[in-house]
Amino acid sequence: MKKLNVIYLTLVLSLTSNLNFSCLAQSWNDEKIDSLINLMTIEEKIGQLTLFTSDWATTGPTIRENYLDDIRSGKAGNIFNAHTAAYNEKLQRVAVEESRLGIPLLFGYDVIHGYKTIFPIPLAEAASWDLNLIEKSARIAAEEATAGGLHWTFAPMVDIARDPRWGRVAEGSGEDVYLGSLIAGARVRGFQGKDLSSPNTLLACAKHFAAYGAAQGGRDYNTVDISRHALWETYLPPFKSALDAGVATFMTSFNELDGVPASANTYLLKEILRGDWNFQGFVVSDYTSINEMVAHGFAENERSAAMYAFNAGLDMDMQGAVYYNYLKELVDQGRVSVNDIDTSVKRILKLKNALGLFDDPYRYSDIEREKSVILSEENRTAAREIARQSVVLLENKNNTLPLSKTEKIALIGSLADSPIDMLGSWHGSGQSTDVISTLKAFTDQKMNFEYAKGSDMEGSDTSLFREAVDKAKNADKIVLVAGEHFNMSGEAASRAHIRIPDIQIQLLKRLLALHKPIILVLINGRPLCLEWESENMAAILEAWQPGTMAGLAITDVLYGEYNPSGKLPITFPVDEGQIPVYYNMKNTGRPMDPDQKYTSKYLDIPNAPLYPFGYGLSYTSFQFSQPSVDKTEINNNDSLHFSITVSNTGSVAGHEVVQLYMRDLVGSITRPVKELKSFKKIYLEPGNSQKVSFTITPDDLKFYNSDLVKIAEPGEFLFGIGNSSDVELNLKVTLK
Ligand code: GLC
Repeated sequence: MKKLNVIYLTLVLSLTSNLNFSCLAQSWNDEKIDSLINLMTIEEKIGQLTLFTSDWATTGPTIRENYLDDIRSGKAGNIFNAHTAAYNEKLQRVAVEESRLGIPLLFGYDVIHGYKTIFPIPLAEAASWDLNLIEKSARIAAEEATAGGLHWTFAPMVDIARDPRWGRVAEGSGEDVYLGSLIAGARVRGFQGKDLSSPNTLLACAKHFAAYGAAQGGRDYNTVDISRHALWETYLPPFKSALDAGVATFMTSFNELDGVPASANTYLLKEILRGDWNFQGFVVSDYTSINEMVAHGFAENERSAAMYAFNAGLDMDMQGAVYYNYLKELVDQGRVSVNDIDTSVKRILKLKNALGLFDDPYRYSDIEREKSVILSEENRTAAREIARQSVVLLENKNNTLPLSKTEKIALIGSLADSPIDMLGSWHGSGQSTDVISTLKAFTDQKMNFEYAKGSDMEGSDTSLFREAVDKAKNADKIVLVAGEHFNMSGEAASRAHIRIPDIQIQLLKRLLALHKPIILVLINGRPLCLEWESENMAAILEAWQPGTMAGLAITDVLYGEYNPSGKLPITFPVDEGQIPVYYNMKNTGRPMDPDQKYTSKYLDIPNAPLYPFGYGLSYTSFQFSQPSVDKTEINNNDSLHFSITVSNTGSVAGHEVVQLYMRDLVGSITRPVKELKSFKKIYLEPGNSQKVSFTITPDDLKFYNSDLVKIAEPGEFLFGIGNSSDVELNLKVTLK
């Protein structure tokens, strides 16, 4: 930083004689940053508002070939998709030692569920309902990513999603606002740690702002047209939770919202983010989302798009090069103000300073730390633990599971030996060579089994069926690992039919003819329609995409080393025709009545989903007492205290997620039939019981009214406590 300090020193000495040189050794205050901004040319300022991908890996079409010149000229102040301590140090030296002012680069990357040690996809982690584990997962990801030279992750993705056709449900926390908001906060705390100036903490990024998960038809990038009430009630709360957790940056979404693309949406970026929420960090676009306003039909050309986006409050342009190409001209024309440019530049420089980059721009390029931290045994152990706790037991007829090591198992399926598919979408720098597959876990643990691939993931080749059937004939039970390729979910991976690919179903039916118990282990990044499977499989384990330690986690659960405790964070439909289907829907004026024609239902499929939100079985059995509440009437100052006793009446220890739901019977805005309001994850040894208590405050009874004011209205509320959203609401309380 000697260049920057010398320049600064020269400037300040020219302005004052009482400089205390040691102050340069500390992090820069606003005054110093303002002085630096005053030294910058307009091109250098616009450079700080520009984010280009490196030439290593891109997440979209590469616009720029050579960006090193841009770094030298100060016209590119931020780089993403560049990583490793050595590579990023090389780039940082170009910026710090070859550019005029030596302002350090900010290095960003999609560290979504791990950097090198890959954790289960975020939707899977949500199924653990364990906020401490989820925060720990993000913390380890940050430890590794910062060891890999990174300063900033484009995570957490906090988009509420209720349409499983949308591939990006994989990246979020599912359908529920309460659970999704708690997880958003946990992930921000994990990534950012307690002190951004520590070299093992990352800037986090709440994305995609906003309501990206409401894309019509579940088709990625599609139109979002929702009410302001739905925006505030459903899609904004996780962003506010991320902001309350101190998230440093936001990313705008590709979609339009009420006809205005999010990247130029002043309601989102100024009224809400800066006005209502007083956000102090910076906002980055999504990948060329500014340019895409031309395709949206919102801007006649990229120059206008740049003006609309910047004037709406979008600070940084990811990969679009529209600020790079047009912002100076727009300033010269008076269509963009230099003061606004300075405001955006300052937001970015403050965060570079907060990371300690002005004091030491190479602090994140510690080769020794990189070697010791990445893929450590400790990190792998943590990844295995959260992967185990993310598995959801959907079916277990006649206690087919857990398996006994004396049973002869036929392990079948290409996904039992497909490391890359264990990593899921957005697996960053995770390597399939580091993955432990189910086949490897079975082999290493010397299980009593034979393996057959059985079929490809897709296609029509049945030539491998015979081998699978023959091996299954010699087995006591069949474990078939089936589901989706890693790239059948994630970005630009919407599916109209969310089912196990047909060739795998054909194989299943061949194996079913042997009349042996089949355990279906699902590898998938979204809910699937599993009605036939639910009727014909002896057991079904939802393993999602469990990450680097997939095989060990799956084997731990199959053999009872870990008693599955996952609960669905998103509804599994019976059929795509139900979508959108989620637990906290509205009652309507004609709620479904099978005996009444003129009520809200389908003629050909049920209303009820196959597996509801919050559902998940265990190898043991838990008994719930009748819940109790300490009051039946409250005013706006009272809290409610609920309690219930949970007993492990089975033969093995296990976790249970005790969930409290509420229904506000009457509101000036109709209220959902249920809302998750609290939960606790407990662990009980066989025969033990535990009293579980919940406190509900008047704040928990609030909702946004038609004026978008959050209020609690007097009236009757029902409450229920159970182990899924299928709970009976049998406690009535009146708010006076
Ligand atoms: C992608 C994604 C976004 C990601 C960005 C950078 O298009 O929408 O989530 O962070 O590009 O890779």
